[in-house]
Amino acid sequence: MKNYSIAVLPGDGIGPEVVAQALKVLRAIEKRFSLRFGLHESLIGAAAIDACGDPLPEPTLAGCISSDAVLLGAVGHPKYAQAEIRPEQGLLQLRKELGLYANMRPVKTWPQLAEQSPLKNELLAGVDLVVVRELTGGLYYGASGRSAGCESAYDTCVYSRQEIERITRCAFQLARARRNKITLVDKANVLETSRFWRSIVHEIAPQFPDVTLDCMYVDNAAMQLIREPRRFDVILTENMFGDILSDESSVLAGSLGLLPSASTGEHAGLFEPVHGSYPEAAGKNSANPVASILSVAMMLDYLGEPDAAAAVREAVDWSVAGGMVTCELNPEKFLSCSRLGDLLALRINEKEDLETGPLLFSDQDALL
Ligand code: IPM
Ligand code: MN
Repeated sequence: MKNYSIAVLPGDGIGPEVVAQALKVLRAIEKRFSLRFGLHESLIGAAAIDACGDPLPEPTLAGCISSDAVLLGAVGHPKYAQAEIRPEQGLLQLRKELGLYANMRPVKTWPQLAEQSPLKNELLAGVDLVVVRELTGGLYYGASGRSAGCESAYDTCVYSRQEIERITRCAFQLARARRNKITLVDKANVLETSRFWRSIVHEIAPQFPDVTLDCMYVDNAAMQLIREPRRFDVILTENMFGDILSDESSVLAGSLGLLPSASTGEHAGLFEPVHGSYPEAAGKNSANPVASILSVAMMLDYLGEPDAAAAVREAVDWSVAGGMVTCELNPEKFLSCSRLGDLLALRINEKEDLETGPLLFSDQDALL
């Protein structure tokens, strides 16, 4: 029986609720595929600041480094928004320490959810793209500060050749496994770092003659993403642009609560929903656990368990097709976060027929 050690970091806000559902799914996978997941839970973000004043305590980092993969919920809390020590610093430090430079954010549309998107249905059919976001460089990690008299502030965007080369190779390899198309998104008409990116990406491209490369300014890309989303396959971009465009592309799927992500690099891979901690919804049992559960599917692929990953995705497709969604996707008829987690776990264990059927609500207060 294969045994994997997984660091579990529920974090803040809705993080713990959605991660709890992801773990139900993981337990169901254990049973069906004869795998073992040793789960080691630890603190990150505001929860860790509350407990010990540090958003990434040493034992958390050590646990992540020694695990096969990390499953994370979300970090962030408004009470620390202006504080010196902020929850997000824990996540950024973790990404850096684990060398997680390659962040993959796939976006697909489900025909059954087309109505939930504010965009026209005919634009959405067949959308299947992935944002490959460089995750450990750029504005997020450059020198920043304020002038002595606090009259000005600065953030700097720096990229090394090596940082651009390695993420570019990842993107080309991924494109090969998909529809062989890369769009490099930058702002090369203004930024020196973007021109540097372009030149390096063009140097590497001839090594992948089967992949088509085109380049697009980020302002135009933001428009094309909602004007003609099917034109995209792999979007390769730097850290900040990738952050912004991945939230934008969630509108295509219908909800940010559906988008998973995988970050890989030098140590264990990290799997987390694209959404944040959404503190307004915390503790209400109303959050969508699908992003977290699909992040488990990405983790299973990474661990070399594609059949298990496929079973998770099949369960999610089954629930969407059957109208079993959380309230942001259907305010008239919805499931609670925990109920959806239960149903998906049952489906994976092929036991859903034993159930009396899903419990659907039309009143959010009834969820608790
Ligand atoms: C994300 C988040 C993070 C980011 C925050 C929480 C630091 O928005 O993963 O997209 O900006 O990278
Ligand atoms: Mn983001």
